[in-house]
Amino acid sequence: PARRRFRTTLLAWYRAQGRDLPWRRTRDPYHILVSEIMLQQTQVDRVLPKYHEWLGKYPSFEALAAAAEDDVVQTWRPLGYNIRPRRLQSIAREAVSNHGGQLPSDEATLLSFKGIGAYTAGAVMSFAFGKRAAILDTNVARVLFRVFVGEGEPKSHAMLKHLWELSRAVLPHKHVFDFNQALMDFGATVCTARKPQCLYCPMRKRCAYRNGAST
Ligand code: ADE
Repeated sequence: PARRRFRTTLLAWYRAQGRDLPWRRTRDPYHILVSEIMLQQTQVDRVLPKYHEWLGKYPSFEALAAAAEDDVVQTWRPLGYNIRPRRLQSIAREAVSNHGGQLPSDEATLLSFKGIGAYTAGAVMSFAFGKRAAILDTNVARVLFRVFVGEGEPKSHAMLKHLWELSRAVLPHKHVFDFNQALMDFGATVCTARKPQCLYCPMRKRCAYRNGAST
């Protein structure tokens, strides 16, 4: 019942307040992967222009796989000096060499790619392939921790395991795409790390974190 309520409340919130973002209007696995890897460490407003530039320059796994590594790193650069562009290109190369230029849709094969971890696999399965797959990143972990747990060590291994289980348990059977996007959005705009906007939170009366962890 608490889970079901969370589900309906979050989906209703998303339909009214969710952001209209370009990667919510596509189901293309390549586009989804690019957006998720960019969003892993960079805010939405900085990702937006780069996402469009990137897809213009490297429109497919094949194009990215064939590009020069320096060029790829250079195109990425304003998003930070790090391994994400190389990782993305290595995924593209693997998709082209071993999977006919596509991403597989099953978890085990996705996880076999260097550079695809549990979060990215869940994002690809649910956003690109419409599968009923859970996601957990720092935003989602914070939301689930606050609403359902409220106290304890949010970053411990045991807690992360519990939060992954919760993320699976709250997942609806339908509208998985919207639900997972809603979790991300809610964590990014309302249930933020610092200064959460509890006044605007439709869960505030039932939130364990806000009400002392007995909820
Ligand atoms: N951060 C990671 N994935 C995201 C998404 N799909 N939408 C908004 N923020 C995100």
